[in-house]
Amino acid sequence: MNILFAVSEAAPFAKTGGLADVAGALPLALAARGHQVYLFLPLYREIMARQKKLTETAAVTVPLGPEELAGGIVKLASEHPNLTIFTIRRDDFFDRPFLYGPTDKEYPDNGIRFTFFCRAVLETVATLALKIDIFHAHDWQTALIPVYLKTLYQDRPQFQGGSLFTIHNLGYQGIQDKELLPLTGLGWQEFTFERLEFFDRLNLLKGGIVYADALNTVSQAYSREILQAEFGFGLETVLQQRRDNLFGILNGVDYREWDPATDPFIDNHFRPGHMAGKKICKKKLGEIFQLPPEPQLPLIGMVSRLVTQKGFDLILPLLEQVSEIEAQFVFLGTGEPEIEEALQKLALAHPARIAFKRGYDNRLAHLIEAGADIFLMPSHYEPCGLNQMYSLRYGTVPLVRAVGGLDDSITAFNPETGHGNGFKFNDYTLAALTLTLKEALQLYRKPRLWHRLRQNGMRDDFSWIHSAAQYEALYTQIMASA
Ligand code: ADP
Ligand code: GLC
Repeated sequence: MNILFAVSEAAPFAKTGGLADVAGALPLALAARGHQVYLFLPLYREIMARQKKLTETAAVTVPLGPEELAGGIVKLASEHPNLTIFTIRRDDFFDRPFLYGPTDKEYPDNGIRFTFFCRAVLETVATLALKIDIFHAHDWQTALIPVYLKTLYQDRPQFQGGSLFTIHNLGYQGIQDKELLPLTGLGWQEFTFERLEFFDRLNLLKGGIVYADALNTVSQAYSREILQAEFGFGLETVLQQRRDNLFGILNGVDYREWDPATDPFIDNHFRPGHMAGKKICKKKLGEIFQLPPEPQLPLIGMVSRLVTQKGFDLILPLLEQVSEIEAQFVFLGTGEPEIEEALQKLALAHPARIAFKRGYDNRLAHLIEAGADIFLMPSHYEPCGLNQMYSLRYGTVPLVRAVGGLDDSITAFNPETGHGNGFKFNDYTLAALTLTLKEALQLYRKPRLWHRLRQNGMRDDFSWIHSAAQYEALYTQIMASA
């Protein structure tokens, strides 16, 4: 089938989080299964910087309110003949230092930028006369695509394909002032409680939820959790209304990028049965973070956006008691300034135990996966989470909270049966986290059991091929009912 994949970031071109990992890998996995895939991205500054030459394939005219704006279509080299990568060029919108704004702020015109992007994608379909069976949009940035397909574009013959809207994170809804509505080209009849209105503002994510033929989240657990007020961010009722068309498909892992046997970022490769390299990776990681060598202590790592979602209101108090914990910690991340400052302070106060590097650093993320013994993900909520699955392959045992994709991918280790791939706790409390960490530290002192636990995880297979097959089945189902 012909699949259009519209998304606001994709590795290796532009990335702020897991969405990019998904959009970098899933289109390729679908292309490899024989589908024709058109991936659409905005042409950001960082993408332009990577290209030697930018050649516009075509120009596109994009209606934005009363105006018509010009956009360029620039093709990028793709790794598979079935995958075509189009970027939409409009320098005043996308030639900026950040994708969405500096870490703790949004560009004030994000609503306009992504409205433009959504319309430009659809106008490109028209301009290039593409034949599309499935329009697959992701998160609030592209949520207007399913809306347009059922409104402004509904009578145009090229836009009769089905639509799938994937929710990667309900915490980001793209809520805009209602003044954006006229710019979208949609009529005020869309500004109702049943459609895009949300507390007198325009909720783009809600538009995707209301209008797409089908919806999915990036794990099964999260598809159930978001129907409850605790995880629904005010959209639980709307989601409940769509529950018959709401599915869950766990993300996969791109093992071409995340495999300690071949990872180009690490010098000492390892794999099940040949683990000597991991010890050296651990030693080097400690050196990079300037921690005093304590080879007998487990090294606990975390790579994360520094936002409340990820469990920092448990982690920070846990670290206050670090002198009672037999372990060393390394953190890599950027995000909310309060969390950055708190981590910095803790690292200064406990230099032998806690180290923190503020920043976004893909190489260091790989070195942490390779060198740490335990990977920490006590998220408050987690639609899927990728690092716990990366960690498994690197023999770095995940310690997670039982939510969303963390719950779906991690099974608590049972020393009696030898089954399980990590440590898992339920209650979002410091006590529950502390107890599970204690369990982990005790098991760490039992080399045979630890070895078993690590090997279990390293042998797990979360390849994209499984998830791609599920997306394919869902696309087929959407087309059949369209
Ligand atoms: P989310 O998308 O909510 O941030 P995921 O677990 O799905 O969480 O994906 C996060 C991705 O971003 C992973 O590939 C992780 O390695 C990467 N990442 C997050 N923060 C950093 C950072 N500071 N430096 C490098 N990579 C990071
Ligand atoms: C979101 C979620 C994360 C998920 C990622 C990719 O950023 O926070 O849990 O893994 O999207 O789907």
